[in-house]
Amino acid sequence: MRSITVKAPVNIAVIKYWGKSDEKLIIPINDSLSGTLSTDDLYAMTTVAVSESFKGDRMWLNGDETDIVANKRLVNCLEQIRARSRLADSKYHIRICSRNNFPTAAGLASSAAGYACLVYALGTLFGIDDRRELSILARMGSGSAIRSIYGGFVQWIAGDKSDNSIAEQVVDHKYWPEMRVVILVVNDKEKETGSTSGMQNSVQTSPLISLRANTVVPQRMKDITEAIKKRDFHQFAMITMRDSNQFHAICQDTWPPIRYMNDISWEIVRLVHSFNDFYARNRVAYTFDAGPNACLYLLDEALPEFFTLIGQHFTTDQGAEYVRGQLPPAKTNISADLTAYVGSRGNKVHHNALKYVINTKVGDGPLVVEGESLLNDTGLPK
Ligand code: PMV
Repeated sequence: MRSITVKAPVNIAVIKYWGKSDEKLIIPINDSLSGTLSTDDLYAMTTVAVSESFKGDRMWLNGDETDIVANKRLVNCLEQIRARSRLADSKYHIRICSRNNFPTAAGLASSAAGYACLVYALGTLFGIDDRRELSILARMGSGSAIRSIYGGFVQWIAGDKSDNSIAEQVVDHKYWPEMRVVILVVNDKEKETGSTSGMQNSVQTSPLISLRANTVVPQRMKDITEAIKKRDFHQFAMITMRDSNQFHAICQDTWPPIRYMNDISWEIVRLVHSFNDFYARNRVAYTFDAGPNACLYLLDEALPEFFTLIGQHFTTDQGAEYVRGQLPPAKTNISADLTAYVGSRGNKVHHNALKYVINTKVGDGPLVVEGESLLNDTGLPK
């Protein structure tokens, strides 16, 4: 038996992917760009083992066995890897055991980390080490997984066929080391519209989506890449927030309309704008995926003050477990002027509106974990 264990990161888009031109190959209608989050705080971990003595392929996800054959994308992904592998002709069977260190209920893009992890582990084991090829394979599992193959800021070039729809690193995670990410996990029980059917409906019914894909995103990709390279946070934040808003506008323009952000999401938007307006420049950027949780990008200089503000406006009955990830910054004084300004903009105190807060940062791509395994010597979960 040969085995390998890998950790792979979550990524949060600042230019959103929404809509496919090819459903089967997962070719998007527009380029997108994301920050990869540090695996110190959030990760998917996967052990893959191959052996001729295994009977059939088996997979366990977060403790439960899952039916590989029932998952078409997974089957496709495995077939592609086998076809490209140096072991293609062998009789090897595969055992996969995967878990996330964050609850799937957090509404984070767990499939992106999961597929990136699986592909990176299988690729490493099967001798596919070209990242471009790995990114294409990850895309076959879940579109946004393509961007979790690299660290730092990463773009997904839409392309128009399978071998030119690829991810590329824009800058690595050391380029802008002050960049922090705070995720506000909103207490929410509603079942969201899945991204696959949601984007299908948007492509079919939203007249605005072609304007977004053909005109708005190409310019934004140029502008945000320049902002990142210049480490211009004000500009980066402006584009990030406007792109999130446009993505949710496309959702509302879809027929029937899709609503991912809820009232608490909008209260977070209000707080961010109030804070930025007080300073007359953007110090915090929000972005929302296909759910109500807010992902905030900010520089470490703004972290203590904005964190304190979040604590004041989103109070909780929870104790220390309210903030996860990196240690929260020390509480700082909020000036009377800022408090008055934020109050005058209608910001209220919301009690228990957030499930928890994750304090993290931009980090590196997938990595091989030495000396750890989720499978025992016979290829069963430990
Ligand atoms: O990869 P999917 O099918 O889970 O789609 C992800 C879509 C968004 O998270 C909303 C945007 C993005 O670019 O990640």
